[in-house]
Amino acid sequence: MALPLRRFEPSKIELLRERFIVAWARTDEVFAIIPPNGILSKPIVWRHPFIFYVGHLPAFSWNQICGALLKWKSFNPSFDDLFCRGIDPDVDTGECHWHPEVPDQWPSVSEVVAYRDKVRSAILDSVEAMAHCGSTDVMAQRGRVFQMVLEHEYMHQETLLYTMQQLPLEKKLRPQPFPRYSFQSAPRPQLIRVPAGKARLGVEFSDILFGWDNEFDELVVDVPSFRVDSLPVTNGEFFEFVHSGAYQDERYWRPEDWRWKKLEEKTHPNCWIKQGEDWLYRAMFDWLPLANVSSWPVYVCLAEARAYACWRGKRLPTEAEFHRAAYYGPDGRESTYPWGNATAEKHHGNFHFNAWAPMPVGAHPAGNSWWGVGDLVGNGWELTDTPFAPLPGFTPYIESYSDYSRDFFDGKHFVVKGASWATDVDLLRPSFRNWYQAHYPYVFAKFRCVSR
Ligand SMILES: [Fe+2]
Repeated sequence: MALPLRRFEPSKIELLRERFIVAWARTDEVFAIIPPNGILSKPIVWRHPFIFYVGHLPAFSWNQICGALLKWKSFNPSFDDLFCRGIDPDVDTGECHWHPEVPDQWPSVSEVVAYRDKVRSAILDSVEAMAHCGSTDVMAQRGRVFQMVLEHEYMHQETLLYTMQQLPLEKKLRPQPFPRYSFQSAPRPQLIRVPAGKARLGVEFSDILFGWDNEFDELVVDVPSFRVDSLPVTNGEFFEFVHSGAYQDERYWRPEDWRWKKLEEKTHPNCWIKQGEDWLYRAMFDWLPLANVSSWPVYVCLAEARAYACWRGKRLPTEAEFHRAAYYGPDGRESTYPWGNATAEKHHGNFHFNAWAPMPVGAHPAGNSWWGVGDLVGNGWELTDTPFAPLPGFTPYIESYSDYSRDFFDGKHFVVKGASWATDVDLLRPSFRNWYQAHYPYVFAKFRCVSR
């Protein structure tokens, strides 16, 4: 059902401004984790130093809203260009899509923050200006461009956080107040049969107020019945895989994954470390005994998840199987969230920065899907074995951003679904697709196994 086309009313203008102010406050809270002397650090080699992202968020906002649509004269064209696009190289080859040349020396923090603040002020002005600009551009309608810029901000908050997770603890400042960790034990996982049926991937353009171009068009597929773990794999379960020696056994790995594992000399997940006989877990701000977080979902990359599933005689779900497990019930009933159509709340899952860390799996039974599958949305993105590819009818429509999706339709990125603790609630719609490379081990991503 198409939603009515409307210009912004004054109350909506104020509401939108408020949403930007709230989003920026969280961005600032995330950047405040990095002390001033750490702003040039680059804990993941495949990403820019933090200073780039301080400039990238306002540059993207300016370019999309004030530049592309309102045609306002830039007050800093060189920063608009320098910070317009980040990097996401192929982790196997180092090859990278087009991006602005990396300068010998990044601008100072004070210059970039001054630019950010001027852009933020312009964005607040742009909300009303957009309502009166008369643009016929599709991004100017229904507030699409504002939603896009907000979602871009949310996605970067999460990528910044998993990047910061790689920093040594002494190089981070803990936010205050900081929620307490949950260490309770997890319920026993069940094996749940999901009957054959249809799954709707993507969405029709007119059916949602905003979606990224990779979410369109809708594709309905038939999914054979399958059995799925009711809960994601925990640190405790994955420890059995490592401790048994199977992590080091080539038989369980795909050849390309084994090559990566050997090259990187991986012997366990990225968040773990062995100190003498003790295993520790690296949370964002603390080293914790691994045994204390055995009920938390294990965060791994797709290569590691595939090896574990093979060891168990199972496999990873497809994107369509995730949809069947999450959004469907008997008689073809379909819902917006696994728990139904009720607005997403804290008791449904670990998302929207409620915890700043994973929580024990199964801690949110109110968020279970109709079949009784838990933790599908929240507590870590769900890895699928479906290559990230365009849905039929894919049409780039976002100026200067459409190449972004196309650049990653390369067979090396895979769809991930759901949400992590660091995912804004706005990104929980079923059609939202995230994507990562199989050999990129930094993401807040978990997995579960399926079988016939
Ligand atoms: Fe970006």
